[in-house]
Order: sequence, then structure tokens, then C-alpha cells
Amino acid sequence: MSGIFIAFEGGEGSGKSTQTQIIKTWFEKKGRDVVLTRQPGGTDLGKQLRHILLDLSSKEVAPITEALLFAADRAEHMHRVIRPALTKGEVVICDRYVDSFIAYEKGGRQLDAEEIDRLSHWATDSLAPDLTVLLDIPPKSGLARSGDLDRMEMQPVEFHERVRATYLELAASHPKRYLVIDAQQSPEEISAIIKERCVLLLMTK
Ligand code: TMP
Repeated sequence: MSGIFIAFEGGEGSGKSTQTQIIKTWFEKKGRDVVLTRQPGGTDLGKQLRHILLDLSSKEVAPITEALLFAADRAEHMHRVIRPALTKGEVVICDRYVDSFIAYEKGGRQLDAEEIDRLSHWATDSLAPDLTVLLDIPPKSGLARSGDLDRMEMQPVEFHERVRATYLELAASHPKRYLVIDAQQSPEEISAIIKERCVLLLMTK
């Protein structure tokens, strides 16, 4: 595949949406076709799944059901959006990908690690991003920045602490793929760090 695949990860209120927009524009100015997408919700089916997953009224769903719905969203998204775009040589910028699954389902929900890993590989055909940007922020600060809280954001702060710890573990075990950034810096400082890394990506891709 000849495209470039960049995933943005982070806890609630980490500023992913702002940064994905900035980096999309940056790549477009370099003459690249860019697909900016997200999980859950990057396909028609995914939009419906996102509504179910984040809607407050579905709060009684069992953790394994929730995990399977996130995995279904991811499989559809990978097969219908991400892989076709990469095959065409486009830049795919994805707001959350499989590492969200590991951080939230394995870390936050404490589901069985092996099952989550197996499901992750199955749903994505083991397709890993070229770069994963982790916008790291203490949960209390991130949650304070979020507006109306959805079902996931309303989890106790310990849940979000486990999510953050799992992200940092993932980053430590994949240092080449991960770029960890302190998300409490200004948006300009953060985007400058990401752009610097993207310059290197463009040289190798
Ligand atoms: P967001 O797209 O507005 O960040 O909201 C998505 C929420 O879903 C966020 O709380 C993280 C959560 N999530 C999971 O729990 N598992 C997953 O696999 C993904 C992609 C997201």
C-alpha cells in the first residue's frame, strides 16, 4: 500500500479534533489527497454504531457487547474506507483506531487481554498505522475540557486513568510508531511537533 496512515489517540478532551484538522490541511498544502475519518463513525454503518455506543440510553450494554460493536465499526471502516484510500496512495488521518480499543476495552473495561488483542487483529487485518500520535493529558484536565459528557466520558476517573496508563504502555512498547505529546501545550506547539514528524514520514513514503 502506497498511502500514509496516521492515527490520533488520546483520552477525553485531548484535542484530537483540532490537531487532525490542522494536519489534514498541512498535507493538502503539500499536494496530497487526504481522508480525514474517525472511529467509531467513519462509515454509514459506523455512524449508527457510534450513536448506539455513545448514547446515554444504552448504558446497560454488557462490556463484551460494547467491545464487539466497536470491533464491527472498525472492521467496516478498515475494509471500506482506510484500505481503499491507502491503496490509492492517499493520506488517511484517523481520529482513534485500534489502540483506542486496547486502551478503553482492555485498560478501561478490563476485558480479557488476549481476546481484545485477537479481536483487534481480526477486525483490522493487522493493519497498523505508519504513525500513531498520542495526545497525552491527565484525565481530570481532559474531562474538564469536554462539554456535554457522553456515556464513555461519564465513566469514573479511575477508568480514564487506566485508559491513559494503557496508552502510555502501548507507546512504550511501540516507540518507532508512536509520537507521544503533552497535550497541555498550546495547539500551535503541538501541531509543530506533529508536522516535524510528518516531514520525516513524507521522506520515507
Ligand atoms: P470520540 O470519538 O468523541 O473521542 O468518542 C469515542 C468514544 O469511544 C471515546 O470515549 C473512546 C471510546 N472508544 C472505545 O471505548 N473503544 C474503541 O474502540 C474506540 C474507537 C473508541
